[in-house]
Amino acid sequence: MAHLLVTGGAGFIGSNFVHHVIQNTDHTVTVLDKLTYAGNRASLEGLPDDRFTFVQGDIADAALVDELFADVDAVVHYAAESHNDNSLHDPRPFLDTNIVGTYTLLEAARRHGTRIHHISTDEVYGDLELDDPARFTEETPYNPSSPYSSTKAGSDLLVRAWVRSFGVQATISNCSNNYGPYQHVEKFIPRQITNVIRGIRPKLYGAGRNVRDWIHADDHSSAVLTILEKGRIGETYLIGADGEKDNKTVVELILRLMGQDPDAYDHVADRAGHDLRYAIDSSKLRTELGWQPRFRDFEAGLADTIAWYREHEDWWAPAKDATEAFYASKGQ
Ligand SMILES: NC(=O)c1ccc[n+]([C@@H]2O[C@H](COP(=O)([O-])OP(=O)(O)OC[C@H]3O[C@@H](n4cnc5c(N)ncnc54)[C@H](O)[C@@H]3O)[C@@H](O)[C@H]2O)c1
Repeated sequence: MAHLLVTGGAGFIGSNFVHHVIQNTDHTVTVLDKLTYAGNRASLEGLPDDRFTFVQGDIADAALVDELFADVDAVVHYAAESHNDNSLHDPRPFLDTNIVGTYTLLEAARRHGTRIHHISTDEVYGDLELDDPARFTEETPYNPSSPYSSTKAGSDLLVRAWVRSFGVQATISNCSNNYGPYQHVEKFIPRQITNVIRGIRPKLYGAGRNVRDWIHADDHSSAVLTILEKGRIGETYLIGADGEKDNKTVVELILRLMGQDPDAYDHVADRAGHDLRYAIDSSKLRTELGWQPRFRDFEAGLADTIAWYREHEDWWAPAKDATEAFYASKGQ
């Protein structure tokens, strides 16, 4: 039994991991989360009081971080500014949290000798051509496109440097695009689902040919727990579930699963610098650590996710109007 500190545990993927740990291990969990617009305390409801503690605070607050590190066995670091579109309009919070925040955690890990796992994204590798059969591996050179992905790339490089220079006990994972319950309505899949529920036509950037490699958030969580338990210190592991789909296919599938005409959506101006294709080769994680994804049927996972958004309007409705007003102000 161990005591884990999970940063960003009130966000989409962090909260999924907290529930996964409570359900599948004997560990106790402390969440450190600033509760930005993206954090939602309601995503952590129902956890047992004797195994779960919530601390509201900033990962860049060195005194608070130091205090929390003194009391835990390992740290799983999810906290980040995570939305590409926001990073194009105001990059500053991305530098503060993704770079300075990660630096603050690494310094605490160094002082306390704490094991830390850093969560990152495949977007650090830039993009692949649509007709390129290649997939990202742990050896692919970093080539980030947006302020979001460049700050995530910077945070990964800090982790690597702190391992090499100071012997920090860290691992890194870079995962592909996640879907599932509790994802903020600003993101592509929940935005389209909640638009259909509200009677708004879904919006597709450009021609919708951009390909994302979808993985269910539950599979991301099981992969992270596997790396935390069995990963080799200093190593990077790519996480993916062979879920490549272009955005047009996803929006049409959402419409069909929700009983609508699959053509009932609008094209809007493309995102600046929009990455074409992401694709993950997760052989290292599968062969070295024996991990396998559980959700292999994207359509079934998407149908479950749609059902969750239909049943949990109280969770997403408070953020919906402001999110759509923001997109409308950008013509998207
Ligand atoms: N969503 C994806 O598809 C995806 C894919 C691969 C990797 N990731 C990575 O996974 C992590 C979590 O992503 P997500 O989609 O759950 O993001 P999210 O935006 O849903 O959640 C981020 C959480 O971090 C918290 N946070 C932000 N700044 C903070 C700070 N300074 N101090 C403390 N807490 C802070 C927020 O309140 C929120 O609860 C990120 O590191 C992201 O880069 C996400």
